[in-house]
Amino acid sequence: MSVLSGKNIVLGVTAGIAAYKTTYLVRLFVKAGAEVKVVMTPSAKDFVTPLTLSTLSKNEVHSSFTNEEDDNAQWNNHVELALWADLFVIAPATANTLSKMAHGASDNLLLAVYLSAKCPVYYAPAMDLDMYQHPTTKATFEKLASFGNIQIPATHGELASGLVGQGRMAEPEEIVSFIEDEIAKKLPLRGKKVVITAGPTYEAIDPVRFIGNHSSGKMGYAIAEEAASLGAEVILVSGPSHVVLKNTRVTKISVTSAKEMYEAVHQHFNTCDVAVLSAAVADYRPATIASEKIKKKTGALTLQLEKTEDILASIGKIKTKQFLVGFALETQNELENAKSKLEKKNLDLIVLNSLKDKGAGFKGDTNKVTFVTKDNKVIPFSVKPKTEVAKDILHYILQQIHA
Ligand code: CTP
Repeated sequence: MSVLSGKNIVLGVTAGIAAYKTTYLVRLFVKAGAEVKVVMTPSAKDFVTPLTLSTLSKNEVHSSFTNEEDDNAQWNNHVELALWADLFVIAPATANTLSKMAHGASDNLLLAVYLSAKCPVYYAPAMDLDMYQHPTTKATFEKLASFGNIQIPATHGELASGLVGQGRMAEPEEIVSFIEDEIAKKLPLRGKKVVITAGPTYEAIDPVRFIGNHSSGKMGYAIAEEAASLGAEVILVSGPSHVVLKNTRVTKISVTSAKEMYEAVHQHFNTCDVAVLSAAVADYRPATIASEKIKKKTGALTLQLEKTEDILASIGKIKTKQFLVGFALETQNELENAKSKLEKKNLDLIVLNSLKDKGAGFKGDTNKVTFVTKDNKVIPFSVKPKTEVAKDILHYILQQIHA
């Protein structure tokens, strides 16, 4: 999944021949999962039609302060548009518009949006090579950089004039990956490796039966998605679960039993920075697995069970720099039990679910948790979607590892 997924992008199109390429740019932003609204300078409409860009962006395209062609003419609110944007991308950015941006001119809607924007502003210059090399243009670039605007450098190639040199707008694919890299660079978990366990484990009785539990894996998958969207390298060790991962940057290792989960976690634990063990691991497994299907007999069937590996406790013993988070699912003496697990398993944080709380637990889409921290703080949360609980957990981890 792209870091642009879910982002609101205002694309400002100015009057350069490269404007025709913005049709592809809009497509790529939309494909990356972004919402796009286009503003154009009036002359940009000579190069690409608002109809094309509104069809591709599925949003109205504006180029003036009022909708003058409409009988019910209405004011196009530049402030609202600017504040809606998570990113403002101006492509192509002509020498004229860039110079106006550098000097605070506001004689069209695009410039008014620029002056009202609080979000990061990216611009992709497009001009002839002599214009690109001109000292005034260089001074404009410097001034724009001093305002915090980010330039997507023009490339070398054949220009509309027939001259060959620098000044060609970066290709739409290059613009998208430039912006993605810039955003990724600033993500708070960039460079960190996070190991997460999720789902149930199945402990085989015979070739067709197992001991398992009702865990859906939703909580662990939500933590994995959130950690990846914050820039972490994520290893998700998952027991059998039907949850579908959206973020393609999560590496999923599918396991079935507690033993397999133990091995996968240990393979990655030494090199990780954070481990969040949210899986509902079976505490016991059949001491022997029958090689053939166990046939029905008249009397009762007794299964001899043995303990599984306690994965969390085992990594608590060997942990060095890692921030270690466990879960506790309790039905009585919740806080006391959670605190004792935190100490016994050498954790930095334990996330307590009480089955007494409505909206908490295994299967649903919501959870109600209480954090018990290493320094003995108890932080209760309200019932919320598991995706929001995942944000709370990662927010706490970020605070601690950057403290
Ligand atoms: N856990 C684990 N390996 C196990 C059992 C549990 O890694 N074999 C982890 C779970 O992922 C969870 C935490 O330990 O993060 C707590 O699990 P829980 O079952 O609530 O506690 P237990 O320590 O198993 O104790 P009890 O079942 O007695 O409450």
